[in-house]
Amino acid sequence: MTYYSKVIGTGGYLPEKILTNEELSETVDTSDSWIYERTGIKSRRIAAADETSSSMAEIAARQAIEMAGIDPETIDLIIVATGTPDRVYPSTGCLLQKRLGVKHAVAFDIQAACSGSIFGLSIADQYIKSGTAKTVLVVGSEVCSRIVDWTDRTTCILFGDGAGAVLLTAAEEKGILSTHIHSDGEYEELLYCPTSTEQKAGYISMRGNEVFKVAVNTLGRIVDETLEANDLGQEHIDWLVPHQANSRIIAATAKKLKLSMDQVIMTLENQGNTSSASVLLAFNEGVRDGRIQRGQVVLLEAFGAGFTWGSALIKY
Ligand code: ACO
Repeated sequence: MTYYSKVIGTGGYLPEKILTNEELSETVDTSDSWIYERTGIKSRRIAAADETSSSMAEIAARQAIEMAGIDPETIDLIIVATGTPDRVYPSTGCLLQKRLGVKHAVAFDIQAACSGSIFGLSIADQYIKSGTAKTVLVVGSEVCSRIVDWTDRTTCILFGDGAGAVLLTAAEEKGILSTHIHSDGEYEELLYCPTSTEQKAGYISMRGNEVFKVAVNTLGRIVDETLEANDLGQEHIDWLVPHQANSRIIAATAKKLKLSMDQVIMTLENQGNTSSASVLLAFNEGVRDGRIQRGQVVLLEAFGAGFTWGSALIKY
């Protein structure tokens, strides 16, 4: 029997506090027009002092569980993608497990920067296809605001906080059609965040312009790889759900797929780049507002530090 990973629930959470471009331009030398034209971002959400990746993950996860209508005890694997864990250990996955009271699941974190949710979907799919797990919760959750240098105008304009979740279960009908993940550690210096044990610890450092060029080329290639692996043409894709880093990068991928921007789920404008949370937040939005319909083919993709990149093709 071949099993597919079927999406049975999605969820998302954004903190209440909104930080606009105008507010940012009062603290760093920038402007709303510069930020919007170069990135597509107008505002982002900022976590409250008592919010963490696990607390936001819990809200998103509970929404996904409620949509699926399952007993949380049936979840047997929890994967949390985050670059901003509550603690170095225990993993945010274990902290989420405790919050959800899901005693029988195994839980762990993965770190693939902005590609984290795609890597999580890929791992979940391998577990389900092999029969090792039946029901898997994948969450991307980030408090990027805590690793942003708020005096650096080249990075602080980009990031936001939030959590996205998806619940998958083994099914005979089609679900995830394929996943494709890649990494190349050669690009470390273009985008990194030092640990607390390094000098100049804690803050994101990025050579944005160079990252931009690699991202556009790489995402073009992942689109080809995904379509070829499934023997599909561009016309078979109903929706593009991209990582929300920059509207110009997203537009280039949509163009490659010959999709109109109406077929792209965009959350960037009011969320900024929520790193590993962004793809699942966008997917959740498209599902909940009814744009993404059962039976449609959805291409999720992401690119991030590492570099890491990947895609998941889903028949929703
Ligand atoms: N406001 C005003 N001017 C600015 C700002 C700002 N906030 N930031 C930079 N500038 C200036 C620069 O200093 C530079 O000035 P100069 O020409 O006098 O030297 C000029 O604007 C152009 O800077 P660039 O870096 O070339 O601007 P660019 O058009 O590339 O836009 C951006 C920068 C938005 C960061 C873009 O490069 C980008 O989106 N890169 C990709 C980001 C990405 O995808 N990251 C991967 C995912 S994130 C992750 O994994 C954690």
